[in-house]
Amino acid sequence: MPILLAFLACSASTEEKVPGIQEIQDLKTKQYAIQGQQLYLTYCSNCHQEDGSGLKRLIPPLRESDYMLADVARTIRIIHHGAQGEMTVNGLVYNQPMPGNPQLTPLEIAQISTYIYNVWGHQKGIISSNQVKEALSAESDLDVQ
Ligand code: HEC
Repeated sequence: MPILLAFLACSASTEEKVPGIQEIQDLKTKQYAIQGQQLYLTYCSNCHQEDGSGLKRLIPPLRESDYMLADVARTIRIIHHGAQGEMTVNGLVYNQPMPGNPQLTPLEIAQISTYIYNVWGHQKGIISSNQVKEALSAESDLDVQ
């Protein structure tokens, strides 16, 4: 346990400069991201950390995550429903449950998604609430078989 604490203290002190909201050019995208950042700090950063770097082998990173960057719709579903079971992110296997956020509206999920997909060097542009609704309804179509 002392080793774990030392590691945490150490990783907290080596803060790097990471590209943030100020780098976003498009105004609408920026507005979404500003709202999204507040929501991210409330609902996500406890685990994924403010800079999206995750927490060692327990919490996968969002920053430069190959898993997240590969599929926006899947991310939307993870935010809404949570996740469990093994997943491989940037070559490392994670297997801890993530709780869902059924209380978040499509607009709020859109804002969080716009934030995480346009900071830390990501540049996917705005993610709309329609995209969120689509991602969630496409899945319920699949469930009803
Ligand atoms: C209680 C801790 C916790 C919270 C809070 C949390 N997550 Fe996660 N998240 C995890 C864990 C653990 C996994 C890996 C799940 C697995 O192994 O199945 C994960 C996986 C993910 C993934 C897919 C893997 C990756 O790294 O690309 C994304 C995207 C994600 N979370 C986004 C979010 C967002 C956005 C929020 C806020 C709405 C959030 N998470 C809140 C713990 C958390």
